[in-house]
Amino acid sequence: MKLRVALIGFGAIGQRLARGLLAHSEAIEITGILVHELEPAQAAAHGDLAGLRPLLSVERAPWLAQRPALVVECAGHAAVDAHAEAVLSSGCDLLLASVGALTDDIRLARLRALATGAGRQVLLVSGAIGGIDWLSAACDAGLGKVVYRGRKPPAAWAGSPAAASLSLDALAAPALVFAGSARDAARDYPRNANVAATVALASLGLDHTSVELWADPGVSENCHEVEAWGEAGHMLLRLENRPDHDNPRTSMITAHSLLRAVLNYCAPVVL
Ligand SMILES: NC(=O)c1ccc[n+]([C@@H]2O[C@H](COP(=O)([O-])OP(=O)(O)OC[C@H]3O[C@@H](n4cnc5c(N)ncnc54)[C@H](O)[C@@H]3O)[C@@H](O)[C@H]2O)c1
Repeated sequence: MKLRVALIGFGAIGQRLARGLLAHSEAIEITGILVHELEPAQAAAHGDLAGLRPLLSVERAPWLAQRPALVVECAGHAAVDAHAEAVLSSGCDLLLASVGALTDDIRLARLRALATGAGRQVLLVSGAIGGIDWLSAACDAGLGKVVYRGRKPPAAWAGSPAAASLSLDALAAPALVFAGSARDAARDYPRNANVAATVALASLGLDHTSVELWADPGVSENCHEVEAWGEAGHMLLRLENRPDHDNPRTSMITAHSLLRAVLNYCAPVVL
């Protein structure tokens, strides 16, 4: 029997993910796609994705009536608020890309309660970051310190609070844009919230995981570093992620991480 999967979001991640799912059509069926605005979906309604017909959020009733087993969110924090409850209550598991939505304790508690009540699971994707398996295992053994460092070219910080205090155009050396807890980083720099939240939720939590954000004229891609010290050892991880062609703020790897999570969800042997 095929795994029935629905998507929320059909932008850069949703379209790349849909292509990946269609390549596994012997095992997976896309039962529906929910979007907020039809423009990106219409743009994709040609070529290899032509057979998929996204529905607007307001038409969501028929979307869940297709009885997917797993719903994949790749639409943003507002979409988590708008749809997570209906997804879990209708008996589906929910795979989230917008992990940063869970930096809100009330939202997290509500999702936990809903999932428990419905006997379902909320699954968080590792997305643009790696090493989550090591971090969560090492957390069990005892972790002393975890630091997430995000490095972006100076221009990528335009429009953020950093632009008020730094001359981004004139930076000759890396400048620290933010240092603090993952919770404060999510509040002040929400565009970085997904990765910082994923590291924090897998390890020391939002209040005890440190975040440093750097404007670095020496990098051309968005770089992620995670450093952790604990009983089980020391981890130092650095990723240089290529941006997605359709949304440069999103790392291309994120859609592939979601695809891997969906394939694992229905695989007989899971790594
Ligand atoms: N975990 C990670 O590492 C990671 C990395 C990048 C992005 N993300 C998350 O994934 C999200 C999507 O990224 P993207 O690059 O595909 O964005 P995008 O802007 O290209 O596409 C967003 C899609 O979501 C839909 N949408 C927005 N609000 C909606 C709502 N309320 N209901 C239904 N559909 C809605 C839009 O219509 C669009 O189809 C981001 O907002 C971010 O939260 C996570």
